[in-house]
Amino acid sequence: MTVKTLAIASDHGGVELKSAIIELLKDRGVEVSDLGTNGSASVDYPDFAQAVAKSIIDGSAEAGILVCGSGIGMSIAANRFPQVRAALVHDRLSAELCRQHNNANVLCLGARLLGEATALDCVDAFISTEFEGGRHEGRIAKMS
Ligand code: RB5
Repeated sequence: MTVKTLAIASDHGGVELKSAIIELLKDRGVEVSDLGTNGSASVDYPDFAQAVAKSIIDGSAEAGILVCGSGIGMSIAANRFPQVRAALVHDRLSAELCRQHNNANVLCLGARLLGEATALDCVDAFISTEFEGGRHEGRIAKMS
């Protein structure tokens, strides 16, 4: 998909990476909604995963990005929402595959595990890679 509208959020572990991602997205012409957090104070990642999931569900964003220390908590929390297919990725290939095979609509990143360049490469792949459809359609339908 070529993403046009995207909601992004992080916990305190992902604030700096979130800023770098927003800059990249704006450079690419994506309309970004920053749902926080915006400081170093400790917050609970499920609250931010829920905010991004709500944006997907109400249609205000086509896609989402969630950043926490490991990306694990955000991916667990986001996938509690049936309309969300959140993928925790670690490199460009996994970011491409989550779009091609899984039609992921939320990308999860671990700011404490990935370097910034790798994380931005994942974002670039996520916003520009199309779902392949075909044999993958039925598999996704089984999860909804
Ligand atoms: C916060 O310390 C950390 O637990 C969180 O960012 C995330 O890694 C949870 O999965």
